[in-house]
Amino acid sequence: MVPVAGLGTRLLPATKSQPKEMLPVGRKPIVQYVVEELVRNGIEQILFVTGRSKTSIENHFDDDPELIRALEAAGKKDLLEELSGGSGAAHFFYTRQRQQRGLGDAILCAENFAGEEPFLVALGDSIIGLNANSRAVSSMAQVFESRRASCVIAVEEVPREETRHYGIVQPDSPGEDVFRVVNLVEKPPPEKAPSSLAIAGRYVFSPLIFDMIRRVKPDRRGEIQVTDAIQLLCDEGKRVMAVKLGPGEKRYDIGNFPSYFETFAEFALADPHYGEGFRRVLERLLAKAECQAG
Ligand code: UTP
Repeated sequence: MVPVAGLGTRLLPATKSQPKEMLPVGRKPIVQYVVEELVRNGIEQILFVTGRSKTSIENHFDDDPELIRALEAAGKKDLLEELSGGSGAAHFFYTRQRQQRGLGDAILCAENFAGEEPFLVALGDSIIGLNANSRAVSSMAQVFESRRASCVIAVEEVPREETRHYGIVQPDSPGEDVFRVVNLVEKPPPEKAPSSLAIAGRYVFSPLIFDMIRRVKPDRRGEIQVTDAIQLLCDEGKRVMAVKLGPGEKRYDIGNFPSYFETFAEFALADPHYGEGFRRVLERLLAKAECQAG
C-alpha cells in the first residue's frame, strides 16, 4: 500500500490544493517513481490510501484515451512509454483516510484489503535510489519469509548529528546489513541515539501490525505513529528485522523544502536529455552568485 493522505504542511503553500506526492521531481511526479519501483519489484496490486484534494493521483494513474490518441497520432512513442512508466502491470485500488491522524492510522485503512496476507508499505513521498532503481523491497520480502519476521523495515545510515530528524533503530548486532531490531527511538538527539540507522520509508508487515496500531495512543499532535506500533511488536518479542539500504539506494524524502530542492536538482542533473543543459545553467548561476558576493 502507498499512503498519500498526509497534509504536507511542511511544503505549504505548494501543497495547498495539490498533493505533495504529485510534485514533480525532474520530469515525473514523486508518486510515479514510487509506483515504478514497486512494479519493478514485481508488485501488482497497489492500494493508495488517499484523502481530500488527492484526486489528481487517481487521475494520474488512469488511462486518458484522448491524450493517448493525440500522442499516437503525433508518433510520440517515447512519451507514451514514459506516461505509463511500466505501471501498466499494476492494478490500482483506492481508499480514503477520513481524518489525517498519522501514518499508523493510514495503514489501518488497508486492513480489509490486506486480509490475512503480509503486505508492503511504501511512503508516497519517498523515492528509493536515483530514478527509483532499487531492489530493496524484494530483499525485504525475502528477509520477511526466511526469518519468519513480523515486520521488516528499510533503514538508511544518516549523519550522527542528524538523528533528531528521524526514527532511529537499535540493532541487536551492530555492523550487519540485515539485523534484528531491539528498539526504536523517535527523533533522538545524537548523544541518545542507539545508532545512526534511520527508518527509510519502506516496511513489510504481517497483519499482526493492525492490532498493535489499535493499541497505540495518539501522540501530542493527535497522530497515531506506526513507529509506536512496531515498538509494541518488539516489546512482545515478535521478530522485527531491518534491511540496510545499499550504496545506490539513497532515500529521497521530499517532505520538506531543503530536501525537495536537493532531490529535484539531483534528478534533473541525472536526466539523460536535459541534465547536461541544467548543469551548465547551475554553473552559470553559481558563478554569477559568487561574483555578486565577492
Ligand atoms: P509525513 O510524516 O511526511 O506527514 O507523511 P504529512 O502529514 O504528509 O506531512 P507534514 O508533516 O504535514 O508536512 C509520510 C507519508 O505518510 C502519509 C503522507 O501522505 C506521506 O506519504 N500520511 C501521513 C498519511 O497517509 N496519513 C497521515 O495521516 C499522515
